[in-house]
Amino acid sequence: MTQPSSSHLPDHVAIILDGNGRWAKKRGLSRSEGHRAGGEALDRLLDTALEIKIPIISMYAFSTENWKRPAREVSALWKLMLEFFRDRLEKSLQKGIRVVASGDLSRLPAKNRRIIESVIEKTKKGRNLTANFCVNYGSQDEILRAVNRIIQEAAAGNRSKTKPVTRKEFEKHLYTAQLGPVDLLVRPGGEKRISNFLLWQCAYAEMYFTDVLWPDFDETCLREALDWYRKRERRFGALE
Ligand code: IPE
Ligand code: IPE
Ligand code: MG
Repeated sequence: MTQPSSSHLPDHVAIILDGNGRWAKKRGLSRSEGHRAGGEALDRLLDTALEIKIPIISMYAFSTENWKRPAREVSALWKLMLEFFRDRLEKSLQKGIRVVASGDLSRLPAKNRRIIESVIEKTKKGRNLTANFCVNYGSQDEILRAVNRIIQEAAAGNRSKTKPVTRKEFEKHLYTAQLGPVDLLVRPGGEKRISNFLLWQCAYAEMYFTDVLWPDFDETCLREALDWYRKRERRFGALE
């Protein structure tokens, strides 16, 4: 297969990992088995992203709304995530992946929080791919958190109480401060919505929706999304 030319590669791809449950149902499997297959798809995706040389990939793994699911499913997800990070660490180190996370990790089971924090620390020198795991992430929460941090800084006397907040200052308080805007948002699973994912960062993202369920999303699917992206004319409000 041909390599998309790097000048047309998005700097930042965001993916909503959706469709595990339906994938499992179609096969008469449990939802947890669907999530396990989703984890395997994620592992493959990271390898493909490295090969294609995508600089940054953000993955929506657990939303602030996913706590509404049955406790059994939520704990199965934490267990799988723990295994994923354990198994993936050596590979990430060898392959130069830098792991970062977005979301409120304080609500995670302690084991999960610890492993994510340790993988972030151990991979911080990775230069080949930044893998942003969005866990207990919600964009509205993220925006409110940024606003509240700015208010607190002003209250503590560390910033002016009256100076208007600029976009640049605001963005420094987002989880994605180091990552910048999303160029391409990919949503497998058939739904055409953002589900509270990176609302600010997707202001000018190209949106790619596919009916393929996440566990079936493979290298060909990613390359198709990138080929589609390459054909978009990004105007950012200006003229051609
Ligand atoms: C996405 O798959 C995984 C998470 C939300 C953690 P779903 O579990 O939402 O799968 P569907 O949408 O029910 O098929
Ligand atoms: C979005 O999928 C969240 C993640 C993939 C982590 P959902 O399955 O939770 O989204 P909705 O509820 O269908 O919008
Ligand atoms: Mg879903």
